[in-house]
Amino acid sequence: MCGIIGYVGKRNVLPIIMNGLKRMEYRGYDSAGLAIIEDDHLEIRKSAGKLSELENIVKTEKFRGTVGIGHTRWATHGVPNTNNAHPHIGDRGDIAIIHNGIIENYAALKIELQKKGHSFHTDTDTETVVHLIEEFYENSNDLETAVREALLCVKGTYGIAVVSARDPYKIVVARHGSPLVLGQGNDEFFAASDASAIVAHTRQVVYLEDNEMAVITLDGITTKNMENQPIIKKVEEITFDVAQIEKQGYAHFMLKEIFEQPNTITDAMRGRLVVDEGISRLGGLSEQIDALKSAKKIVFIACGTSWHAALVGEYMIEEFARIPVEVEYASEFRYRNPVMEEGTVVIVISQSGETADTLAAMREAKRRGATVLGICNVVGSTIARETDAGVYIHAGPEIGVASTKAFTSQLTVIALITVLLARLRNMSAVEGKQIVEEMLTLPDKVRTILTSNDLIREIAEKYIDKRNFLYLGRGYNFPVALEGALKLKEISYIHAEGYPAAEMKHGPIALIDEDMPTVFIAPKDAIYDKVVSNIEEVRARGGKIIAITTEGNTEIRSKAEHVIYVPKTHDFLMPILSVIPLQMLAYHMAVLRGCNVDQPRNLAKSVTVE
Ligand code: G6P
Repeated sequence: MCGIIGYVGKRNVLPIIMNGLKRMEYRGYDSAGLAIIEDDHLEIRKSAGKLSELENIVKTEKFRGTVGIGHTRWATHGVPNTNNAHPHIGDRGDIAIIHNGIIENYAALKIELQKKGHSFHTDTDTETVVHLIEEFYENSNDLETAVREALLCVKGTYGIAVVSARDPYKIVVARHGSPLVLGQGNDEFFAASDASAIVAHTRQVVYLEDNEMAVITLDGITTKNMENQPIIKKVEEITFDVAQIEKQGYAHFMLKEIFEQPNTITDAMRGRLVVDEGISRLGGLSEQIDALKSAKKIVFIACGTSWHAALVGEYMIEEFARIPVEVEYASEFRYRNPVMEEGTVVIVISQSGETADTLAAMREAKRRGATVLGICNVVGSTIARETDAGVYIHAGPEIGVASTKAFTSQLTVIALITVLLARLRNMSAVEGKQIVEEMLTLPDKVRTILTSNDLIREIAEKYIDKRNFLYLGRGYNFPVALEGALKLKEISYIHAEGYPAAEMKHGPIALIDEDMPTVFIAPKDAIYDKVVSNIEEVRARGGKIIAITTEGNTEIRSKAEHVIYVPKTHDFLMPILSVIPLQMLAYHMAVLRGCNVDQPRNLAKSVTVE
C-alpha cells in the first residue's frame, strides 16, 4: 500500500526521501513521487512504475532543500500513471500533499471546489484535499489550521503529509485510519507510514493515533487532536534495526525469511515455555486470562495468510482446550451482523497490525462488547495498540509480500495459547510437558526441512509450465493446503486451489489430468490412511502428485511422483513444519518463471485500504 516519508532537518532531503521510499518498496506500489521545498518554491518529481524510474529522474538533480515529502502509491482512484502519482498540488502550486487512504466524499467535494474556481488535473480522490487546504489557507494563512479545517470536511481514511512553500520549514501530518509514525532525531524530524523508512536515522518514535495531527518543524514535533488541543505522546523505541530489513546475502527477502524460521520460531517461544509445569506463560495475556479461560466462544478474525493461521488455531483450540472456535474473514465480519454473546473472546491475527479490514472488524467486535485480543508482529502497530491484550510473535520485520516466517510464528503463538488454555482447563501436566518438550524441538526440525531446498528446486523445474495446481490436506493440514496454494498464486501467478482432500471429489476432481499437478500434505497422522485414499483417487485419473509426508514413510513413494519429507512431530504442530516445503516450492516456481518474488504484481504487504 502507499508509503509516506517526510523530513524536516538540516541535511539534504533528497537522499533521505529516496532511501525512505526504497525501504518501503516491499509494501507494494505502482508509482512514486516527491516534493522538496527549494528556497521559495516546490520542486515536484513523479513517475509511474518502479522506484528506479523516479531514481532516474532525480539522479542529476542538484536540489539543496532540507524539507520534503515522498510517496509510493498503490492506486485506488485513477490508473497508476505519472499524473496520478502523489504529491498533488493546488492551483497556486505551492502546497503539496501525499496521502494514504481513500477520500470517500471526494466527488461531492470536487464539484464544490470546481464551483469555487479550482481546476483539477488528476483522477485521484487525494487532489480534492489539497484544493480544500488551499481554500482554507486563503482565510487563515496558516498551514496547520488549513489542514485541520480541510480534514473536518473529509469523509474516509487518511494518513497525510502536507508542505507549503509559503511556510517552508514545516510539515503538517494527520491520521485517520492509515498509520503514521513520527521520528525524533538530533535536530531533525521524520514522518513515515512505516518505521522501516526512518529506522536508519532514528529509533525514537511517536505513533499517531486516529484523529491526531502533528506539526513538524526544526524546533520539534507538536501533536494535537482535531479540536486543536495539544496532546502529549509517549516516545517509543523501534524494536528492530537496519540489518533486519536488509537481504543479508540472500537473493530475495522471501528466501531469507524462509531460512530465518528456525530462529523466528525460537523467538516466538523464547521465555514463554515452562517445561516442568508443561504450560506456557504469556505475559501479554495475563490481564485477560480469566476472560479467555472461561470464554464460551473464541472468534478468530484475520485476512490472507493470517486467516489461514486462524484456521489452524480453530483445530488446535477445539481439540485441546475444548472451547468452540469460529474463524472469520475480517472483511466479511465487519459488514454483517455477527452474534457476539457474552463470553465471546475475539482474537485478531495480523502480521502488520494495520490491515484495514482487520482493524475495522476489531473495532466492531469491541463496540459489541467482546474482549478483543491480538496476535501481531509489528510492535506498536494500530491493532497491537487497540486490542485489550495480546501476544507479539516477534518474527522481526517481514519484507517479502508473501508471508512466510510470520505464518509459522503465528502458528507457534497459537500453539502456546492452546497449551495455556488447555492446561488451565483440562490438560494434564504430563501431556502438557510432552507437548512443550516437543515444541522446543521444532526449530531443529525446521533446519532439517530447509536442507531439502535443492530437491524442491528440482521438483519446481519440472512444473514451471503448468497453469493450475491443486493443494490437498486434511485436518490440521487442510489450512496448510490453502496456504500453500496462496503462496503459489501470490508470487508465481499460477492458479492454485487449496481444498480439504476429501472434498476434492465434490468438484475439483473434474479438473484432474496430467496437466494439473496435485500437492498432497500427507504426514503420517491420525487421518493419514484417509488421505492415501484421496491420493489414489487422483492417481487413478492420471494426476501427478507431489507429496509432503513424514520421514520414514516409504510406501508413499510408489504413489507419488515426488516426495518431500518433514520430521515427525505432534499432529497439531505439523502445520509449522509441513508449510515450509510449500513456501520453498512457491518460491522456486516464481524464481524459475522470472517473477518478482518480493514485490508480486498488484499485491501489497500491508493492505491499509478496504
Ligand atoms: C496482504 C498480504 C498477505 C497478508 C494479508 C493480511 O494481503 O499480502 O501476505 O497475509 O495482507 O495481512 P496482515 O498484516 O493483517 O497479516
